[in-house]
Formats: sequence, C-alpha cells, structure tokens
Amino acid sequence: MTASLQGKKILLGVTGGIAAYKAVEVLRLLVTAGAQVQVVMTAAAQQFVTPLTFQALSGETVRTDLFGPGTEPLEHISLGQAVDAIVIAPATANCLAKLAAGIGDDLLTTVILAASRPILVCPAMNVKMYENPVVQENLGKLRQRGFHILEPAAGEMACGAYGSGRLPEPPDIVAAIACLVTPPDLGGRRILVSAGPTHEDLDPVRFLTNRSTGKMGYAVAAVARRRGAEVTLVSGPTALPAPWGVSRYLVRTALEMQAALESLFSQCDVLIMSAAVSDYRPAGLAEQKIKRGEEEMLVKLTHNPDIVAGLGARRQQQQVLVGFAAETQDLLEHATTKLQRKNLDLIVANDVSAPDAGFAVDTNRVTILDRQGGVEVLPLLSKEEVADRILDRVAALLAERRG
Ligand code: CTP
Repeated sequence: MTASLQGKKILLGVTGGIAAYKAVEVLRLLVTAGAQVQVVMTAAAQQFVTPLTFQALSGETVRTDLFGPGTEPLEHISLGQAVDAIVIAPATANCLAKLAAGIGDDLLTTVILAASRPILVCPAMNVKMYENPVVQENLGKLRQRGFHILEPAAGEMACGAYGSGRLPEPPDIVAAIACLVTPPDLGGRRILVSAGPTHEDLDPVRFLTNRSTGKMGYAVAAVARRRGAEVTLVSGPTALPAPWGVSRYLVRTALEMQAALESLFSQCDVLIMSAAVSDYRPAGLAEQKIKRGEEEMLVKLTHNPDIVAGLGARRQQQQVLVGFAAETQDLLEHATTKLQRKNLDLIVANDVSAPDAGFAVDTNRVTILDRQGGVEVLPLLSKEEVADRILDRVAALLAERRG
C-alpha cells in the first residue's frame, strides 16, 4: 500500500553506501505514488549505482556536480527550495558528519545547507560504524536541529554482520516521506484501530473465519499515522505488514481481540473498529484433530461478545467511536440500527456483495452515517481515500468536542 504523493516534489539525495541500490526502489515507489523526484548523487554513490538508472526512472536529469558543464549557477540554492521535502537514503556516516559540521563540499551537502524544507535522513552503515559514539553524536546534533531521522532497521547486513544499521525497507521510507508532506491535522491524537478477521478454533488444525483481509483497517491505520496521530492497531491474522510508525498487536480470536481492545480503549481518543469479528465460535475446542466420522457432522457454536457494543457502553463522551457495517442487503436500515445499538458516532456501511467493494480488493464504496441522521454517500474510491474521508469526519468531531 503506497501513499498518494500526487503533485509532490521530492529531492532524493543518494550517498555512497551499498544500500544505494535500495534508493532505486525508493525512487520507483515515489514515482508510482505520483511524486516528481529530483535525484542528487554524491561521487561515492555513483560508484555503486549509475546516474542513468535514476534518470531513467525519474525522467529528470540526475544532478551530481556543484561546478562544471551542465550545472546552473545557483542550483545549490534553488534545488532545496523548489521541493516539498528532501530525503537522503542511504546517508553514510561521512554524510552525517558533514551535515552535523555544516560542511558543503559537494552538491548534496551544499543543497542541504541552503534548504528550507523538511529533511528526512535515513542512515545506513555497518553496525560498528552506526554504534560509534561520533556517529551517534552527529545524529543527536541533527535531531536537535530539526532533521527527521529514520532509525535504521536491525537485521543481516550486506557485510555479513548482524545488528542495527540496515536501510529501512523502501515502502517504510516512502511512508515516512508521506508523513513529512501531509498536514498533521490529527497530531497529538491517539487512535486505536482494529482490523482483519478472527480465527475461531474448532480443533488443533481447523478454525472458522471470514473473507476479511484487513486492507481497510490497515489503510485507516496508515493514513491516521500519516496525518500525525499516534496509532495502535489490533489486528487479526492477515498477510499484511505492519504500517510504518504504527504499534501493532497481533491477535487470533474474538476473545483475544476483545482483551486487547479493552486494555487499550481508555487511553484512546478515537476507536475505529474495522475488524470483521466472528459473531460465533465453536462451543468447545477439541483437544485432538477431529477424525472423519458420520456423513453429517453438527458443530455447536456459541456467541462471541459484541466487542464494540461493550466499549460503546462504557465510553467517555469525548471519545469518538466509528464502526463498520458489512451488509449484503438493506444496507442503510441495518447500519442505522447498529449505529444506535452500539452507541457509535459514525458507522461506515458497505455492501460487501459488490465485486469492487468490501473484502480483499483495494477499492471500496461506502456510505458514512452519523448520529444526527446524516448520510454521506461516497463514490468508488481506493481504501486509502476512504480512510482519508473517514478521518476527515473524525477530525471534525474531535474539533467540535474540543469546543
Ligand atoms: N463487531 C464487534 N464484535 C462482534 C461483531 C462485530 O465489535 N462480535 C463490530 C464490527 O467490528 C463492526 C460492527 O461491530 O464495527 C458491525 O459489525 P457487523 O459484522 O456488520 O455487525 P454485527 O453486529 O455482527 O451484526 P450482523 O452480523 O447481524 O450483521
């Protein structure tokens, strides 16, 4: 899931580390997301990847030199001001040291000295280099001066060592850039999101579940984080990676989801309950695998708790609660009943029988109902766009309640 960066201008600085090859993927994702990208490479970066690769993908001439043929006289000043954000990925220890000391001895470092836009620095180096006190001191200086630092990931490195220093994965770098260029209208808000299906065990190898993939809830979590919220995601089993910058709790059953949400609910300003919770679970869990037997087999089910109704009953008035209503018939009537019964502020109703909406697809067609009887019918949108529209309504309710 990539953020939309339509119309955004990004300067991508690439310095000379082995992770420079990953910058190619960062560029590709930025371009796919609709950004216009100007690449600036250091001399060392060109030892790892050629400018031609970046040029072909960005459609722009790659800038490499402060002086010489083909350079504009005031490029080192204009480049860092004509964009919405700057990202340096990877940033070597040498680059960090130069930035911390204010050295401008090549085009990239000079551009940074003159820049007036948010700068995201993505350090990547061997773990020993990364843990070196001088590197940490330089990072501290940069943080203090308002640079945004994307912590390196831990894992196996190109040099064979294991530890902290790997360049984060390109989708996470792009998510962090999207945060920088999105107005933080949900800044300071704590948003709890549930997503995905639940698995209700029948025996050690079988369970009951539904067709939810978690895409809608994960989109809500990613977009809320992008808009500045502190986001916690409680997720049933899905194949999706945790959205960047979001704390994720993985659960399997409705009872586990209930326990997780109940423990987190009192600290949140907003709950967005998009999980497809199973209404029933097998009445008993067979200890051993159930063997093939008679022609027919009856499975006795017992009710699961209605999680959001329970939370709705003990909510504080200033909290905002949003539910989803997955329906296959009488959409608005059923959704209105659920909104009232579960004590919600908003309910997002969708007809899950439509092929382009609901489970397992990247688009959704929803209607948002509120407590005052308001009905907002949205067109077919990507799940990220739907998330934005839901969060617009949430932001308006939060602002109203603040008074
Ligand atoms: N929900 C919940 N706990 C459940 C079932 C649903 O918290 N045991 C939440 C869902 O996450 C959603 C809302 O309630 O936000 C509506 O879910 P939905 O499945 O549409 O409705 P149900 O209440 O289960 O009613 P029905 O299955 O009869 O349509």
